[in-house]
Amino acid sequence: MSVTEMPVAHAPAVIDAQAAAREAEARQKRITSALLYLDGVHVSFDGFHAINNLSLVLAAGEMRAIIGPNGAGKTTMMDIITGKTKPDEGDVYFDGSVDLTQLDETRIAELGIGRKFQKPTVFESQTIEDNLLLALNVDHRVRGTLFWRRSMDESERIDRVLETIRLTDSRDRLAGNLSHGQKQWLEIGMLLAQDPKLLLVDEPVAGMTDVETHQTAELLKEINRHHKTVVVVEHDMTFVRELGVKVTCLHEGTVLAEGTIDQVSQNDRVVEVYLGR
Ligand SMILES: Nc1ncnc2c1ncn2[C@@H]1O[C@H](COP(=O)(O)OP(=O)(O)O)[C@@H](O)[C@H]1O
Ligand SMILES: [Mg+2]
Repeated sequence: MSVTEMPVAHAPAVIDAQAAAREAEARQKRITSALLYLDGVHVSFDGFHAINNLSLVLAAGEMRAIIGPNGAGKTTMMDIITGKTKPDEGDVYFDGSVDLTQLDETRIAELGIGRKFQKPTVFESQTIEDNLLLALNVDHRVRGTLFWRRSMDESERIDRVLETIRLTDSRDRLAGNLSHGQKQWLEIGMLLAQDPKLLLVDEPVAGMTDVETHQTAELLKEINRHHKTVVVVEHDMTFVRELGVKVTCLHEGTVLAEGTIDQVSQNDRVVEVYLGR
């Protein structure tokens, strides 16, 4: 122990102040080193605590799976991150220092947070390629030309997205003729066209066939390999296992367990409230 660290001869108030300063510094460090940082978040709807002291920290480039029973607060958590719902209390930071609680939904989307809702919302009467073009043009309007990254031209970018979502050969087909699974991929592609830093995906494999489910796991892993940070909410445990990433189980608006899929699925409380025996 160095001389300066020795806890001698200080009045309690001084020690308290030093401890508080050290804690503030440590908190700041946790915020700046995270891509997404939620801590001590509370949300209530008419006195009902939907989110209750929620903390979740994601590193840049990480993919995280979120599981938990219906009503656990998974979708509300995404609402908080995207600015749809404002927390009553707590920290929500993005990309090291951006306080998301101070920004509206449009601004948050502009920062590079893309969200896929449960139900696909593609333009059915347009081709797949045109759907992606529309997504790019939304990007133009939202971000403005100043923020438009010109490193790759539009067609090149669309080609790459089509390849990622495995729809290259279907680019001229109408989106309305796609299978449910393919529509989900197209919507993920529409988000990718906007080149987000963080992708939030709510129950992507609900209603998919086993093959589509497997392909979706592969797709998300590939997107994550290309340096996107991903939060994926899903009930399908086979799918979650296939992702092979850290799992967070939410219950009653807070974190019940966090760890590998094996750790979380063997946790007694998780079994009790979610997985069943
Ligand atoms: N806008 C809202 N008004 C009132 N209650 C809400 C609202 N949004 C969510 N809730 C409630 O908050 C809880 C968490 O919901 P949700 O985040 O949708 O859970 P999950 O996605 O994990 O199933 C539920 O009990 C739900 O009824
Ligand atoms: Mg939900």
